[in-house]
Amino acid sequence: MPVTVTDVLLTEAQIQTRVQELAEQISSDYADTKDLILVGVLKGAVMFLSDLSRRLSIPRSIEFIAVSSYATGSVASASVRMLMDIRRDIAGCDILLVEDIADSGRTLKYLTELFATRQPHSVRTCVLTRKPDRLKVELSIDYLGFDIPDRWVVGYGLDYAEQLRALPYIGAIEPPDA
Ligand code: IMP
Ligand code: MG
Repeated sequence: MPVTVTDVLLTEAQIQTRVQELAEQISSDYADTKDLILVGVLKGAVMFLSDLSRRLSIPRSIEFIAVSSYATGSVASASVRMLMDIRRDIAGCDILLVEDIADSGRTLKYLTELFATRQPHSVRTCVLTRKPDRLKVELSIDYLGFDIPDRWVVGYGLDYAEQLRALPYIGAIEPPDA
Protein backbone atom coordinates (compact mmCIF):
# COMPACT_ATOMS: atom_id res chain seq x y z
CA MET A 1 0.00 0.00 0.00
CA PRO A 2 1.51 3.39 -0.93
CA VAL A 3 2.16 5.74 1.97
CA THR A 4 2.41 9.51 1.79
CA VAL A 5 4.51 12.02 3.69
CA THR A 6 2.37 14.13 6.03
CA ASP A 7 5.04 16.56 7.31
CA VAL A 8 8.49 17.60 6.17
CA LEU A 9 10.72 17.51 9.27
CA LEU A 10 14.08 18.35 7.67
CA THR A 11 14.38 20.10 4.34
CA GLU A 12 17.03 19.26 1.77
CA ALA A 13 18.80 22.57 2.58
CA GLN A 14 18.81 21.87 6.32
CA ILE A 15 20.24 18.40 5.76
CA GLN A 16 22.95 19.58 3.37
CA THR A 17 24.00 22.42 5.68
CA ARG A 18 24.28 20.08 8.63
CA VAL A 19 26.18 17.44 6.64
CA GLN A 20 28.69 20.12 5.65
CA GLU A 21 29.11 21.15 9.33
CA LEU A 22 29.61 17.55 10.40
CA ALA A 23 32.14 17.01 7.61
CA GLU A 24 34.14 20.05 8.72
CA GLN A 25 34.13 18.88 12.33
CA ILE A 26 35.17 15.35 11.37
CA SER A 27 37.88 16.62 8.99
CA SER A 28 39.32 18.69 11.81
CA ASP A 29 39.06 15.97 14.49
CA TYR A 30 40.70 13.34 12.27
CA ALA A 31 43.26 15.66 10.65
CA ASP A 32 46.20 13.56 11.89
CA THR A 33 44.63 10.17 11.26
CA LYS A 34 46.22 7.77 8.77
CA ASP A 35 43.55 5.11 8.42
CA LEU A 36 40.06 6.50 8.80
CA ILE A 37 37.37 4.09 7.67
CA LEU A 38 33.76 5.23 7.32
CA VAL A 39 31.56 2.19 7.89
CA GLY A 40 28.07 2.74 6.53
CA VAL A 41 25.13 0.66 7.65
CA LEU A 42 23.14 -0.50 4.63
CA LYS A 43 20.84 0.52 3.27
CA GLY A 44 19.64 3.60 5.15
CA ALA A 45 23.03 5.30 5.55
CA VAL A 46 23.91 5.25 1.84
CA MET A 47 22.84 8.82 1.00
CA PHE A 48 24.27 10.27 4.19
CA LEU A 49 27.57 8.43 3.82
CA SER A 50 28.03 9.47 0.20
CA ASP A 51 27.33 13.15 0.91
CA LEU A 52 29.43 13.16 4.09
CA SER A 53 32.34 11.35 2.50
CA ARG A 54 32.46 13.72 -0.47
CA ARG A 55 32.64 16.72 1.86
CA LEU A 56 35.54 15.45 3.98
CA SER A 57 38.89 17.11 3.32
CA ILE A 58 40.96 14.24 4.77
CA PRO A 59 41.94 10.78 3.46
CA ARG A 60 39.39 8.05 4.25
CA SER A 61 38.10 4.82 2.88
CA ILE A 62 34.56 3.50 2.96
CA GLU A 63 33.10 0.12 3.82
CA PHE A 64 29.55 -1.12 4.19
CA ILE A 65 27.87 -3.57 6.50
CA ALA A 66 24.32 -4.86 6.58
CA VAL A 67 22.36 -5.66 9.71
CA SER A 68 18.78 -6.53 10.31
CA SER A 69 16.63 -5.23 13.10
CA TYR A 70 13.31 -4.36 11.54
CA ALA A 71 11.77 -7.16 9.49
CA THR A 72 9.51 -5.14 7.22
CA GLY A 73 7.39 -2.03 7.95
CA SER A 74 7.88 -0.08 11.15
CA VAL A 75 7.50 -2.66 13.92
CA ALA A 76 10.69 -3.05 15.91
CA SER A 77 12.33 -6.29 16.89
CA ALA A 78 14.71 -6.23 19.82
CA SER A 79 17.63 -8.15 18.38
CA VAL A 80 20.28 -7.05 15.90
CA ARG A 81 21.86 -9.50 13.48
CA MET A 82 24.87 -9.05 11.18
CA LEU A 83 23.90 -9.92 7.60
CA MET A 84 27.05 -8.72 5.82
CA ASP A 85 30.30 -7.88 7.55
CA ILE A 86 33.34 -6.00 6.25
CA ARG A 87 36.16 -8.19 4.99
CA ARG A 88 39.22 -6.19 5.94
CA ASP A 89 41.37 -6.15 9.05
CA ILE A 90 40.72 -2.96 11.02
CA ALA A 91 43.49 -3.30 13.63
CA GLY A 92 44.97 0.14 14.32
CA CYS A 93 42.37 1.94 12.18
CA ASP A 94 39.97 4.69 13.19
CA ILE A 95 36.43 3.50 12.63
CA LEU A 96 33.56 5.92 12.14
CA LEU A 97 30.22 4.12 12.07
CA VAL A 98 27.78 6.06 9.89
CA GLU A 99 24.05 5.54 10.45
CA ASP A 100 20.86 7.15 9.26
CA ILE A 101 18.99 7.02 12.55
CA ALA A 102 19.23 5.99 16.20
CA ASP A 103 15.81 4.76 17.28
CA SER A 104 16.15 2.29 20.17
CA GLY A 105 19.93 2.69 19.79
CA ARG A 106 20.43 -1.08 19.73
CA THR A 107 21.97 -1.25 16.26
CA LEU A 108 24.68 1.27 17.04
CA LYS A 109 25.36 -0.11 20.47
CA TYR A 110 25.79 -3.59 19.01
CA LEU A 111 28.05 -2.34 16.22
CA THR A 112 30.16 -0.13 18.49
CA GLU A 113 30.79 -3.05 20.83
CA LEU A 114 31.47 -5.47 17.97
CA PHE A 115 34.00 -3.22 16.20
CA ALA A 116 35.71 -2.45 19.51
CA THR A 117 36.68 -6.13 19.81
CA ARG A 118 38.74 -5.95 16.57
CA GLN A 119 41.70 -3.92 17.93
CA PRO A 120 40.89 -0.64 16.17
CA HIS A 121 42.63 2.56 17.24
CA SER A 122 39.19 4.11 17.87
CA VAL A 123 35.49 3.56 17.24
CA ARG A 124 33.12 6.52 17.01
CA THR A 125 29.60 7.04 15.73
CA CYS A 126 28.14 9.56 13.30
CA VAL A 127 24.35 9.55 13.11
CA LEU A 128 22.15 11.83 11.06
CA THR A 129 19.01 11.62 13.22
CA ARG A 130 18.12 10.46 16.71
CA LYS A 131 14.74 9.96 18.36
CA PRO A 132 15.62 10.80 21.99
CA ASP A 133 12.23 9.62 23.29
CA ARG A 134 12.75 6.13 21.87
CA LEU A 135 16.25 5.31 23.11
CA LYS A 136 16.31 2.03 25.03
CA VAL A 137 20.04 1.64 25.64
CA GLU A 138 22.93 3.78 26.78
CA LEU A 139 24.49 5.09 23.58
CA SER A 140 27.16 7.68 23.02
CA ILE A 141 26.89 9.47 19.68
CA ASP A 142 30.01 11.38 18.71
CA TYR A 143 28.57 13.27 15.72
CA LEU A 144 24.82 13.90 15.59
CA GLY A 145 22.89 15.63 12.83
CA PHE A 146 19.49 16.25 14.38
CA ASP A 147 17.20 15.19 17.20
CA ILE A 148 13.77 14.41 15.77
CA PRO A 149 10.35 13.61 17.27
CA ASP A 150 9.03 10.09 17.76
CA ARG A 151 7.53 9.70 14.28
CA TRP A 152 8.25 7.21 11.50
CA VAL A 153 10.49 9.10 9.11
CA VAL A 154 11.38 8.50 5.47
CA GLY A 155 13.66 10.01 2.86
CA TYR A 156 17.37 10.66 2.48
CA GLY A 157 17.97 6.91 2.76
CA LEU A 158 15.30 6.16 5.37
CA ASP A 159 12.50 3.92 4.19
CA TYR A 160 9.13 2.56 5.02
CA ALA A 161 9.03 -1.04 3.73
CA GLU A 162 11.65 -0.10 1.07
CA GLN A 163 9.63 2.87 -0.15
CA LEU A 164 10.51 6.58 -0.19
CA ARG A 165 14.29 6.28 0.36
CA ALA A 166 15.15 8.55 -2.53
CA LEU A 167 13.40 11.70 -1.27
CA PRO A 168 15.96 14.51 -0.85
CA TYR A 169 14.30 15.62 2.42
CA ILE A 170 13.20 13.78 5.58
CA GLY A 171 9.48 13.58 6.20
CA ALA A 172 7.11 11.84 8.59
CA ILE A 173 4.42 9.33 7.64
CA GLU A 174 1.65 7.57 9.50
CA PRO A 175 2.65 3.90 9.06
CA PRO A 176 -0.39 1.70 8.38
CA ASP A 177 1.09 -1.04 10.63
CA ALA A 178 1.75 1.21 13.67
P1 IMP B 1 17.65 1.04 16.32
O1 IMP B 1 16.34 0.78 16.99
O2 IMP B 1 18.32 2.30 16.86
O3 IMP B 1 18.54 -0.15 16.41
O4 IMP B 1 17.37 1.35 14.81
C1 IMP B 1 17.37 0.31 13.90
C2 IMP B 1 17.06 0.71 12.49
O5 IMP B 1 15.67 0.90 12.38
C3 IMP B 1 17.66 1.97 11.92
O6 IMP B 1 18.97 1.82 11.45
C4 IMP B 1 16.73 2.21 10.75
O7 IMP B 1 17.12 1.42 9.65
C5 IMP B 1 15.41 1.71 11.29
N1 IMP B 1 14.53 2.81 11.72
C6 IMP B 1 14.25 3.21 12.97
N2 IMP B 1 13.38 4.24 12.98
C7 IMP B 1 13.15 4.51 11.68
C8 IMP B 1 12.32 5.49 11.02
O8 IMP B 1 11.64 6.35 11.61
N3 IMP B 1 12.33 5.43 9.65
C9 IMP B 1 13.06 4.53 8.94
N4 IMP B 1 13.84 3.61 9.53
C10 IMP B 1 13.88 3.59 10.88
MG1 MG C 1 19.79 1.95 9.49
